This record gives sequence, C-alpha cells and structure tokens, in this order.
Amino acid sequence: MLGVSGSIAAYKALDILRRLQEEGASVRVAMTKNAAHFVSPMTFLTLSRHPVLWDEFRDSGRSDIGHIAITEGLDLAVIAPATANVIGKLAAGIADDALTSALLALECPLVIAPAMNDRMYRNPVVQRNIGFLREQGVRFVDPEEGPLACGAIGQGRLAETERIVQEVASALSPRSLAGVTVLITAGPTREPIDAVRFISNPSTGRMGFALAEAARNRGADVILISGPTELTPPWGVSHVSVTTAAEMRRAVMDSAGKARVVIMAAAVSDFRSAERSEGKIKKESAPEVLRLERTEDILLELGRTPGKRLLVGFAAETDSVIQNARQKLKQKNLDMIVVNDITRQGAGFGTDTNAVTVLDRSGAVTDLPLMKKSEVAARILDNVAELLQK
Ligand code: CTP
Repeated sequence: MLGVSGSIAAYKALDILRRLQEEGASVRVAMTKNAAHFVSPMTFLTLSRHPVLWDEFRDSGRSDIGHIAITEGLDLAVIAPATANVIGKLAAGIADDALTSALLALECPLVIAPAMNDRMYRNPVVQRNIGFLREQGVRFVDPEEGPLACGAIGQGRLAETERIVQEVASALSPRSLAGVTVLITAGPTREPIDAVRFISNPSTGRMGFALAEAARNRGADVILISGPTELTPPWGVSHVSVTTAAEMRRAVMDSAGKARVVIMAAAVSDFRSAERSEGKIKKESAPEVLRLERTEDILLELGRTPGKRLLVGFAAETDSVIQNARQKLKQKNLDMIVVNDITRQGAGFGTDTNAVTVLDRSGAVTDLPLMKKSEVAARILDNVAELLQK
C-alpha cells in the first residue's frame, strides 16, 4: 500500500508507484483529502489499476469497510510523502481519515518517507514522534537537504525515489546476511594499450550491482569493487572504483581479510598488453602484432589464500557449460559457481535479465530460468546464506 499525504511532493508519489510496479509490486493507494488537492485520486486509480482509498463517506458504492479492506493481505506499506501531520497522528493513534485509519489497522512492515519544511522537521515534537515510531519498528527514509518548496534551504525534501524503492525492497527481504561482510566485484576491467586505447569486454556491471543491492537488503555490510561502469552504486554499500585487473586485484586483496563472503561477478580481463605506451600510438608507427600477457587471476589467488571465507565465482561459457563450470569450481577451489550460458537469448552481457545455473561444492546443480538480474541476485544470495549455515 502506498500512502500519500498532503505535501507538495505528492506528485513524486506517482513516480514511486511506477517504480514499485516495475519491481513487480501490485500497489494500492490510500491518500488524505489534502493530498487529493495536489494529485487527483483518478491519476492514482489509473496508474495503480486499483480503487483509491481517500474519502470513504463520498464513496458510497462499496459494501466493504475501505480502510480495513485495503490492509488485507498487504506485504508492506509505505507513506511517501509523509507530512508532520500524518506522522504525528500515527504516533498518537489518531485515525480521523481514510489513510490514518488504514495505518492503525496495518499488520505489515511500514516505511515512512517524510517531506516537510526544515523547521517543521527539526521540531522536537516531530522528532519525538519519529523516534517513537522507529522504536516500534517503523523504517524511515530520511528527507534530503536542498531547496524546499517554501524557498528555504534545509533538510526536508522527500528522499529520491530510488532510495525509497530500495528501502521497500530491503524491508521485504529476509535478513539472512545480517552482520556478514560481503565483498562483490562487478563490471569489466580495462587494460590500456596506449593513452586512448584499451582491451575490455561488454560487461555493464548490472549483475554485480544487483548482487550488491540484494546483499545490502539482506543486512550485509557490502564492499563493492567495480571496473568502469555507467551505474550508480546502490545506497548504503561502500564502493571502490578501479580500472585495470591489477587495480582490482589490489582492492580485493586489501578487503578480502574482512570479508566472510567474496563474490567475483566482475568480468576481469584475462589479458593485457605486454607493453603500454604512455602517449598515443600513431597509425603509421603501430606495431602489426600486439603482444599480450596474462593478468593475475584474482579468484584463483583467493582460492589459494587461507581464510574462512565463502568464495563464489562466475563463468561465461558457450559450450560444455556444466562440465567447464564444474572444472572451474574445483580448479579455483570455490564454494559456488554461477554459470552464464552466453549463447542463450536474454542471458549474459548488457541485458536486464539473466538465466544462470548455480553449482556448489556439494555437487548440487540449480538451473534458474530467465529472470530479472535482481531476482537472479536474490536467488544466488539465498544459496549463499544457506551455505553459510552449513
Ligand atoms: N576472474 C578473476 N581474475 C581474472 C579472470 C577471471 O578473478 N583475471 C574471475 C571472474 O571474476 C569470474 C571467474 O574468474 O568469477 C571466471 O573466470 P573465467 O574468465 O570465465 O574463467 P577462466 O578461468 O579465465 O577460464 P576461460 O577463460 O578459459 O574459460
């Protein structure tokens, strides 16, 4: 359920609704009458494809009790934007309209994203209400600093949509990795040939970033080490940006001691140019042959480094997929390997989806059908959490 209250930021709730739907959620909207001054309930009805709860006395066509019916079977509720008024009413147990009545009947996790003037937000009474609700297990997505609708600059802007969606995902995830430090690598590496040319591959980093987000959602402390990518690191993970395989190796080795789980999702380049020219090589003077040398195999080295850590590797294969993967699992001394058959449509580099097979040390083989990378990440981490229990 998405609760919307009467802040100018109410229009941003439309974007939040769409993003939650993109993540696979079915969303019902409950709003205050004041919110309906900013955005019409009709807009939420059209986008959510569910009746909108906002004025039960006007809506005489229903036979059920709207504010109770909307809470039935909910997995989660999020109020965004939440005004000082709605937060105060909830903290005091006041239910004088459709939204606040529904909130008192909730039995699911609740996420609140406040939005208000900075002085209102700092008000000790508002802060006391927020503190009290936090103690009851409500999760807050703190408002951001910046220019406010009233012209002031301060903390009060509704948090970014992505931040709110991430908190919702986190509230819905099992806390199966709480307190576990997970190191994840992602993206390609770039091995320079000269000042402007390099050897690389088409990895976008999406699989590794999805893993970082899913691990964070499960309560892990995440260290994400990525090669060059266009992606924004998920909120709440510590991010290290590198370029070459050698830099990635150094960053991984620096942090590996802290990690209970290492997931090497990066497409580390296997080769680099044996000579690197500092300047740009002119066409006329280019060598006909580019001599290559192997990069350091980070995963292999980790597998040989003593330490009580769970090691997960990735493999991109085109033939003898399972056989090759099994061999890699053994050779690199891994606990689990995730294999991409990159000949399958929708799998592998640069897509939003992936279809992988997961093999573990015990010999178990799990085939995952084509699904979103966020779902693949969730399934991989469920397996990791299970292996940690063993
Ligand atoms: N990997 C690594 N360091 C490298 C190369 C790869 O840590 N220099 C890791 C990748 O992050 C991935 C796994 O090893 O987790 C996959 O390696 P891959 O390149 O598929 O296997 P190779 O052993 O290089 O085998 P081949 O290329 O012959 O298939």
